[in-house]
Amino acid sequence: MVVRGEEGSSRSRIDKRRNLGPLRHTSYMSNESTANQILRSVRDSGTHYATSLPMIASENILSPLVARAVASDLHGRYAEGLPGKRYYQGCDDFDTIESTGIESAKRVFNCNFVNIQSISGTVSNIAALKALSKPGDSITAVSTADGGHISHANMGAVGVRGLDLHTYAWNEDRMEPDVDRSAEMIREVEPSVALFGQSVFLFPTPLQELADAAHEVGASVIYDAAHVLGLVAGGVFQDPLREGADVMTGSSHKTFPGPQGGFLISDSDQEKFHRKLNNSVFPGTCSSYHLHHVAGKAVALAEFEEFGHAYARDIVSNAKALAESLAARGFDVLAEDRGYTASHQVLTRHGEQDSGAGKKAARTLEESGIITNMNMLPGDTKALSPSGLRLGVPELTRLGMGKEEMDEVAHYFQRALLDGEDPASVKRDVTRFKSDFSVVRYCFEPGEAYPSTG
Ligand SMILES: Cc1ncc(COP(=O)(O)O)c(C=O)c1O
Repeated sequence: MVVRGEEGSSRSRIDKRRNLGPLRHTSYMSNESTANQILRSVRDSGTHYATSLPMIASENILSPLVARAVASDLHGRYAEGLPGKRYYQGCDDFDTIESTGIESAKRVFNCNFVNIQSISGTVSNIAALKALSKPGDSITAVSTADGGHISHANMGAVGVRGLDLHTYAWNEDRMEPDVDRSAEMIREVEPSVALFGQSVFLFPTPLQELADAAHEVGASVIYDAAHVLGLVAGGVFQDPLREGADVMTGSSHKTFPGPQGGFLISDSDQEKFHRKLNNSVFPGTCSSYHLHHVAGKAVALAEFEEFGHAYARDIVSNAKALAESLAARGFDVLAEDRGYTASHQVLTRHGEQDSGAGKKAARTLEESGIITNMNMLPGDTKALSPSGLRLGVPELTRLGMGKEEMDEVAHYFQRALLDGEDPASVKRDVTRFKSDFSVVRYCFEPGEAYPSTG
């Protein structure tokens, strides 16, 4: 921002120029205008989301208290190590924050161990793989074509760890690993890690039987709950730690509604195992681990203890309601036989396989004020021209929308994609509708959801 009163003074400009040292080859005015342009774009992005229906399944918004923690002085601080065992001075208050967060996390995830330092779901996966495998070992996982995450693939964390990847047989009707064939594959491959969980995640993984097969051959079981962590903790999805997972990884900003970050979770009571997991985060994959976000996670955990079960329940009931309304209006919604969804996601098909119909639909929807992402569906082979959309309701739910509003949202989809109405006219109505839903709920001190729009 331009600081009023300083911008016109040549003296202050000279002083500022002196501070810029290495950037002297470009002009001060041009750099300042770039900075201000960026801030305008930040504001415009906030306005875009505030006036639209954000339906990306991996996204969420911050509660006012979490936002305060994230915007705090902790942003600039370091605290390598664990509470009480630091390499830096100045960490006493942060020790209290992290210890409190760890204790809340153990209650929220009902387990003996949580590391709350990891800076993302991907980093949690890298850390878990580092703890539980060696380069050259085998791993079994869901393929990206079937909804597995890029960190489960050679292009991501699995490749970084140098593992030999084998992907599960997939049951397309049930949208889950084929239990018999996958268990057989695990017994044959004898991996060090059997990894479960997806980015496209409609139904709980049939984990128990597959975890049994993995343990039989000495493999560790990792359940990647990045997407569904809030639903797991809210008791409305599945309970991986009781169904055979040795480690659960996750993002802290999807259905678990905290700041960007990750968790490493286990119900093991073995201190040696806890040390291994902690070491795989620091020093294994992080040095500074974003203290402001750890504080934000600790606040979000306290809020989750109070409001998380209701939030998780409402997310799933909204996803089901949206799927039913879309199907009733003529959309091809996947997994009808299983009730469409048991999570926060809904999948819709908009044309032939590999036709790019999903991409086209996502563009039309954005012009109509609805933000979604194109997604590969069973039969698609090209990530950039898939036939489907993945829709998520965590953000709309957090803003207080319920089943009635899901029907209204489905109606906007119909107008934009089936009735062929002018997107600009749909957008006008979407924006009017959205203006009644701008307050973050399921938190202490509900407040403005899109503060960067000012
Ligand atoms: C299954 C799965 N694992 C891991 C991740 C990565 O999470 P993050 O974006 O926090 O790195 C994602 C992201 O969407 C995911 O879907």
